[in-house]
Amino acid sequence: MHILGINAYHGNASAAIVSDGRLIAAVEEERFNRVKYAAGFPSAAIRYCLDAAGIKLSEVDHIAIPRNPWARLGTKLLYAMRMPSFARERAKVLARFVGIPEALAEAFDMAPENIPGKYHRVEHHQAHLASTFFVSPFEQAALLSADGLGDFASTMWGTGQGNRMHIDGSIAFPHSLGMYYTAVSQYLGFRKFGDEFKVMGLAAYGEPAYLDEFRKIVLTNGGVGFRLGLEYFKHHRTGPEMTWKDADKTPELGAMYSEYMVERLGPSRDSEAPVEKVHRDGAASLQARLEEVLFEMLRGLHAKTKQKAVCLAGGVAFNCVANGKIFDETPFEQIYLQPASGDAGLAIGAAYFVHHQVLGQPRSFVMENAYWGPSYTPEQVRSAVAASRLRAEGMEISELPEEPMAKEAAKEIAAGKILGWFQGRAEWGPRALGNRSIVADPRRADMKDILNARIKHREMFRPFAPSVLAESTGEYFEKSYPSPFMTQAYSVRMNKRDAIPAPTHVDGTGRLQTVTQEANPRYWRLIREFGNLTGVPVVLNTSFNDNEPIVCRPEEAIECFLRTKMDVLVLGDTLVRKPASPEVPR
Ligand SMILES: [Fe+2]
Repeated sequence: MHILGINAYHGNASAAIVSDGRLIAAVEEERFNRVKYAAGFPSAAIRYCLDAAGIKLSEVDHIAIPRNPWARLGTKLLYAMRMPSFARERAKVLARFVGIPEALAEAFDMAPENIPGKYHRVEHHQAHLASTFFVSPFEQAALLSADGLGDFASTMWGTGQGNRMHIDGSIAFPHSLGMYYTAVSQYLGFRKFGDEFKVMGLAAYGEPAYLDEFRKIVLTNGGVGFRLGLEYFKHHRTGPEMTWKDADKTPELGAMYSEYMVERLGPSRDSEAPVEKVHRDGAASLQARLEEVLFEMLRGLHAKTKQKAVCLAGGVAFNCVANGKIFDETPFEQIYLQPASGDAGLAIGAAYFVHHQVLGQPRSFVMENAYWGPSYTPEQVRSAVAASRLRAEGMEISELPEEPMAKEAAKEIAAGKILGWFQGRAEWGPRALGNRSIVADPRRADMKDILNARIKHREMFRPFAPSVLAESTGEYFEKSYPSPFMTQAYSVRMNKRDAIPAPTHVDGTGRLQTVTQEANPRYWRLIREFGNLTGVPVVLNTSFNDNEPIVCRPEEAIECFLRTKMDVLVLGDTLVRKPASPEVPR
C-alpha cells in the first residue's frame, strides 16, 4: 500500500512516500527548483518520490494533504469579518488547496478522475505531531508541536501511544510562539523568511537584559498554554501577511510587531544597520523568554502525561539551543525530533497520520537516518565530472575505494583544506548531515573566518556545527544523548573547547551531529580517520551550498566547488583537487 504525502502552497513544499509503513523517500521541492524555502506545488519532489518507490501515480492508494480548510472555521470566520484583506488572502490560499487534485493531475498530465488515490485532509498540527511520533523509537510519548501558524493554530499537544495519537489541547491564532520569534526577529532587523536561525545564533552574544519586558510579550499560566501580549504585535489586526511574489517562490512576511513594541524597546533596527549591543541583548532576551515559556509548557505537559519521552515538531522545534536544555529544565528523559521539524516534515506527517490514525496500521518504522533524498550512481557522477569544466580548469581527478578515500580526505582536512563531501542520498530537512556537506578542521580557531571569507559569506555571529563520532560524544560534550539530526546544542566540555574552537559557539555550546556507523558508514569513517590522524574525532560540518538550497545533484556540487574557494571535492569515489592549493599553515 502506497501513501503519498504532499506539502503544497506553504513554505518548504515537499513530498514523501510511505509504502507498507516504510518511508521510501522524502524531499523538499527547493532541492530541485533551486529556490530556497520554495512554496508552490512540489511536482519534482513528487516525481522523485514515485520513482524511488518504483511506482506510477496511478498506483498510489492514498494521497495525504497536511491541511484541513475546515479546521477552526469559527475562529477563521471571526477574523475574516474583522479583516477583509486577510479574508481575501485566505480565500486565495483555500482555492489553491482545494485545487490540489487538479494541480497533481496537471503535473502528471492525467485527468483528475484518472488518479485513483483517495484524498485525505490532515489538520496541520496533527500532521506535525504525526511526523515526529510515528517515526520515533517510542511506543508512547508526550507530543508537542509549535510553529508560526497552520490551519489557524500555532501549538498543539497530546500523547502518542502505539499507532494512535490523542490530542489534549491547542492554541489558536493570534497566539503563537513562532510569530513571537518572527516578530521580534523582524524588529531586530532580520526580516527575511527563515532569518530566525540567525537571531538564535546572535542571542549567544548578548545578555537577556530585557527579560522582564519580554515576560509581558509572552505570558504564561503555569500550565501548557501561553498567550501573547497582543499590544506588542499587529498580526492579529492585519492578519499574517505572508505572500509569495510568484507561486513557487520564497514566502515573504509583512511586519508583525507594533508601534508599542518600538515605544517599549526603542527604535527597530534597519536590516543594513550594524548589529549593536542593544540588538544582541534583544536577541538574548527573545531567546531567554522563548526558553522559559517552552520549558514551562513542557513541565506542564509532563505533569499531565507522566511520559518519560517527548516528541517535538513545528518550526519552534528547530530551536536547538532550547532543545539542548530540555533534560536540565524538564523531567523528560528522552526526546525525538525528525530532521524536518518545519513544514517540509508535514509531507511525512500527513502520510503517517493516514497510515496509522486513519487506516489503523501497526507501527513498523523508525527514522534513524536523514537520507531520504535523491542519490546518483557512479556512472552519473562520472558523466557529470566528464561534462564539467573540472579537467579544462586543470583539476587533478582520481578514483579511490571507500577506505583509502576516507584516509585521503581526512588528511586534506587535517592540512587545513576545505572539503566538499558528496555521498549517497540527499538529506531530508534543512541540515547537511554528511552526504551534502562541506567539511573542515574544527581544531583551527580561524576556520570559521576562513569558511566565511572563502565560501559561506555568513554573518560572523552564526556558528558552524560539529559532527562527532557517536561513541566520542561524552568525551567532548556535557551530554551524550544522541543528536543525529543536529537538533540539539550541548555545552562543549571545558577541557575540550580549545580542542575544537571552530564549531564551538561563543556561549560554549555546539549544535552537534552525533554520527553512528549504522546511520552513515562513509561519513563515520571519514571522521574516524580524521580522529586517528589528529586525536580529535570531530569535524566541522556545514551545508554544501553558497547562499542557495543545499546542492542536490553532482552537477550542482561541481558548480559550487568551482565557484567558491573550496580546495577538494569528493563525489562518491571520485576525488577532485584544485591545482596549486598549498597547505594552509596552522
Ligand atoms: Fe507548521
